[in-house]
Amino acid sequence: MNDIGFKRSDFPEGFLFAAATSSYQIEGHGFGGAGRTHWDDFAATPGNVIRAENGHRACDHYHRYEDDFALMQQAGFDAYRFSTSWARVLPEGRGSPNAEGLDFYDRLVDSMLDHGLKPMATLYHWELPSPLADLGGWRNPDIANWFADFTQIIMERIGDRMFSVAPVNEPWCVGWLSHFLGHHAPGLRDIRATAHSMHHVLTAHGRAIQVMRGLGMSNLGAVCNFEYAHPADDSEEAARAARLYDGYYNQFFLSGLFKGKYPDNVMEGFEPHMPAGWQNDFDLIGQSLDWLGLNYYTCKRIAPNSGPWPSHDELEGPLPKTQMGWEVFPEGLHHFLHMVHSEYTKGLPLFVTENGMANPDQVDVPDTPRIDYLNQHVAATRQVLAEGVPVAGYTVWSLLDNYEWALGYEKRFGLVHVDFDTLERTPKASYHALKRALSQ
Ligand code: FCB
Repeated sequence: MNDIGFKRSDFPEGFLFAAATSSYQIEGHGFGGAGRTHWDDFAATPGNVIRAENGHRACDHYHRYEDDFALMQQAGFDAYRFSTSWARVLPEGRGSPNAEGLDFYDRLVDSMLDHGLKPMATLYHWELPSPLADLGGWRNPDIANWFADFTQIIMERIGDRMFSVAPVNEPWCVGWLSHFLGHHAPGLRDIRATAHSMHHVLTAHGRAIQVMRGLGMSNLGAVCNFEYAHPADDSEEAARAARLYDGYYNQFFLSGLFKGKYPDNVMEGFEPHMPAGWQNDFDLIGQSLDWLGLNYYTCKRIAPNSGPWPSHDELEGPLPKTQMGWEVFPEGLHHFLHMVHSEYTKGLPLFVTENGMANPDQVDVPDTPRIDYLNQHVAATRQVLAEGVPVAGYTVWSLLDNYEWALGYEKRFGLVHVDFDTLERTPKASYHALKRALSQ
């Protein structure tokens, strides 16, 4: 039997096991009056997304959510991490809400609760309405207020039933991945756009927290992603390059949120490109939080180069890799849970809000590599707990195979297999293994 090496009773009472998804990746943005997003535009531009695939139908969760939540409930999960699409709620990004969109999230949340799942919401998981992208999207400082208005509208409707809320999923992806590397929408490769978007994602976060506090909501946090940076060799130059990668990837947002400043090594490159008056925004950015979520998948090998800042390359590493080509390095999760607790959050509850792997799964072939991966990362989480760090939950990415952004439908992260022709759901061996673990 493909079994997993832990059981629920190994964890403290009240520790939450969850699975995560996001709106554009599963719902089907062609349904229910959702507006156009910058992902639709990015995917419609040749060369950006494998086979130019988009999220118009995705997993059709829009119509099948009851069945999907039944799968969550049958596996014994405590909580469900989902996101609300800005473009579904406000098709123009601002102005008149789409009543069908608000009704959908209302039904969705009620159904989660009916299935015994605590709703863990993320307000923004990357589906920026196209009309706001036309205005500069995350480069425009006004986005903080546009986002505050969206927050007000959606949370006035569903905020009374949330277990927890984070404004933005993975600020690094919104900023660096999308504006510096150009791998995600809007596909820019521009240092100034990067510095602006990385700052505005935090001002928008701050405004959203203010709005939700104003609505009387509690258990508000932030969700950041982390990658462990190994120097590619023993040289001082490689060590410096890895520290810089760590700076703009792992430290930048936490430092803004919890220390009211940005890391010096990142500012060496960013300073001339920052938006006017950025130094005055840290009171807004540093709204008090109730928890922090960590998304963790892999590590990188960083080598210096002689090009412009940040003057480094990523090299291929030696560890076993997932279907994404990502090395499996559970020690990184152990490292980051400790680092975040001791350097930044100092006692706030931490959640692993995403962890999992892509595998070329087929129905009827057990996804044993995923069972091993989850096992190793849950073991790292347990170890950190035993070492005194207040970890409050662990979340698998993802419940379903889904639209993996620029990699289309090819990379399968689900505990549940989805046939993208018939949309049939088939629980994988990892689903059954987790189900056994959660019942013991
Ligand atoms: C994370 C994203 C999620 C998914 C996983 C594989 O960065 O939050 O949407 O793409 O990676």
